[in-house]
Amino acid sequence: MRPPELLIYPDAQAGATAFATELRLRVAADPELTLGLPTGGTPRALYAEMVRLHREEGADWSRVRGFNLDEYWPMAADDPQSFARFMRERLIEPAGFDPGRMRIPSGEVAEDAVAAHCAAYEEEIAAAGGVALQILGIGVNGHLGFNEPGAAWDGRTHLAALAPSTRARAQAAFAGREVPHRGITMGLGTILDAGSVVVMAFGADKAEAVARALAEPSPACPASCLLQHPRVTWLLDRAAAAELPDAHA
Ligand code: GLP
Repeated sequence: MRPPELLIYPDAQAGATAFATELRLRVAADPELTLGLPTGGTPRALYAEMVRLHREEGADWSRVRGFNLDEYWPMAADDPQSFARFMRERLIEPAGFDPGRMRIPSGEVAEDAVAAHCAAYEEEIAAAGGVALQILGIGVNGHLGFNEPGAAWDGRTHLAALAPSTRARAQAAFAGREVPHRGITMGLGTILDAGSVVVMAFGADKAEAVARALAEPSPACPASCLLQHPRVTWLLDRAAAAELPDAHA
């Protein structure tokens, strides 16, 4: 098994800029590349740079296919806290992606339709030929998407319960409203099926999760499942790499 690749940048902006440039090269070579895409604070600088490359340097993302990792459930697509709205406002519209080629699990499906929606999401990924490059963030508790500690490593897209720490971190953005208790997420098995994976982690509060994910496979740290994947790159800033053994940092 090829060990994970570690790329450590001085700060998040430097990492995001380098990765956006790499993505542009990959898309130039394969305009219909299928990406798995995250939301949250982590990818903001990457998406901003992809927008800049489109507006100022003519980068063409219009034939890329995208499958988002997760969405709160229940959640209206136009809610300010929805991942659907985040994607539309921060990447799809300003970077010139084709909305018809971009998918995100729906937070609007009725509870008795969720299982069929999740199965259809998996089928659509398969019909696209699978995710070629899965981009991820990591939770402070080691989660990927809404695959919280204890999640099955062969799980597919499903409705998952959010960990209390995940809901607590989201509370500030939700202001006085209640953070949803559940979300629809690709499973760890879905993620592990991707051709290659890039995990981004920036800031000191991610350092412990990064170190645990790279130490040994353990169900207590969902991101450690990536140790079983042959093509994983960790894109870190120095603060997020600070708790890695010296051999890495
Ligand atoms: C959230 C999302 C994940 C995201 C992670 C990190 O709860 N469900 O998809 O990768 O937590 O979020 P952030 O990048 O804001 O730290």
